[in-house]
Amino acid sequence: MKFHITTMGCQMNVGDGDWLTRSLVSQGFTPALEDQAEIFILFTCSVRDKPEQKVASELGRIADRHGGNPRAFVAVGGCTAQQIGTALWRRFPMVRLVFGTDGLAGAPRALARIVDEPGLRLSLLDFTETYPEREQTWPEDRLPPKAFVSIMQGCDNFCAYCIVPFVRGRQKSRSLPAVVAEVRELAARGVREVTLLGQNVNSYGLDAAGDGTRFAALLDAVAAVPGIARIRFTTSHPKDLSDDVIARFADLPQLCPALHLPVQSGSDAVLARMGRGYDTAAYLRLVEKLRRARPDVSLTTDLIVGFPGETDADFRLTLDLVRAVGFDSGFSFMYCDRPGTASERLEPKVAQDVKSARLAALQTLLDARLTAALAAQVGMVTEVLIEGKSRRDGPDGPSWQGRDPGGRIVNMALPGTADATGSLVRARIRQAKKHSLIGEAEADHD
Ligand code: SAM
Ligand code: SF4
Ligand code: F3S
Repeated sequence: MKFHITTMGCQMNVGDGDWLTRSLVSQGFTPALEDQAEIFILFTCSVRDKPEQKVASELGRIADRHGGNPRAFVAVGGCTAQQIGTALWRRFPMVRLVFGTDGLAGAPRALARIVDEPGLRLSLLDFTETYPEREQTWPEDRLPPKAFVSIMQGCDNFCAYCIVPFVRGRQKSRSLPAVVAEVRELAARGVREVTLLGQNVNSYGLDAAGDGTRFAALLDAVAAVPGIARIRFTTSHPKDLSDDVIARFADLPQLCPALHLPVQSGSDAVLARMGRGYDTAAYLRLVEKLRRARPDVSLTTDLIVGFPGETDADFRLTLDLVRAVGFDSGFSFMYCDRPGTASERLEPKVAQDVKSARLAALQTLLDARLTAALAAQVGMVTEVLIEGKSRRDGPDGPSWQGRDPGGRIVNMALPGTADATGSLVRARIRQAKKHSLIGEAEADHD
């Protein structure tokens, strides 16, 4: 049977969707475009803005287009599925499987049963005590050059605004041997770059499920896997970013000079109410240490505007901090209340029009930062990991797209190359576009 996966939300969902695809393919299912599919799998996100409505509208759309096919059904996974649970069944008859993040490991078996037993509905919503290790199957000999690797599940931080600890459960670290074994399998199939994933990777190993292995030791173990040329990780919490991890930016050549370090606000009063556990001075000290370890490190961040009680003066401090750090880019969000979180009860709420104006001002500043960061690359020689063909060809024929170690997109022509995917190419940056760079090959690529 053919299946189609739609993913909302963060990279955790993308990584979970990649695993489910592999697992289903090895059971004999076939990935397909939505029009040809009969099993529709949604990975949902609860972090902001009316997720229940988004899920409802997507389910309504699938029912309109595919409800006439008696074999067709829907599986809903991810954070909103965990939040709404089996209430989804009552409103949407096509939904026959609901699974939370810890239930994902059992989803392939559940899907196979549902296909065989018409009328069966299943839910996998319990949280587990330890990392729910998933069976690893490798139906393909060759994989794309980049892959996500989950190293932990859940989060213990309970930042005042955030629903993630409620929908992903407590932090549970995956064992180091399991992470390294997966990275080896990936490397054997052509993967050159891995991104280690967790809500707070810096506290890897330091939970009841972990064995005390620190994140820096995990980085060392992954860097030792032959064939892995690049390592990234996300997300980092500033309060847990330790000196030994910062030192790895100097010591491990595989560790890319790029770090997403969400700061959320530039006001110490707002950071305290968010319960983030650091102030702006501590954050700036981290930035200084990171730049000392790796002067070319590209820093990006997440920012929230309009947290309850945020004043104009608080917001100006956020703009000041963005300028002071010199982020290369960032994601900015308007605060929204999420059910059950501490800040849902915090007053005063910031008016919608004030939040919109602050978001627009912040985005203008972040866009200018991105433009400056890309322009600063022009003339530099760098190394690009080619991920595939560019969407548009260049004047000299096919153009290839990849990323530099800082994570910036680079398009370049590679005349005479049939398939450059997975190659690491030395390139000189010739031009900066709005969101990407144009490069030119410097010497032979591997
Ligand atoms: N664990 C990561 C961290 O600590 O930054 C990612 C958390 S969340 C999946 C991604 C981003 O969403 C957060 O960094 C925050 O900026 C934003 N976010 C979370 N809850 C929010 C809310 N209630 N309103 C607006 N933005 C929110
Ligand atoms: Fe949410 Fe904070 Fe955990 Fe990130 S660290 S997932 S923002 S509670
Ligand atoms: Fe969304 Fe869940 Fe990720 S709430 S951002 S999919 S952890």
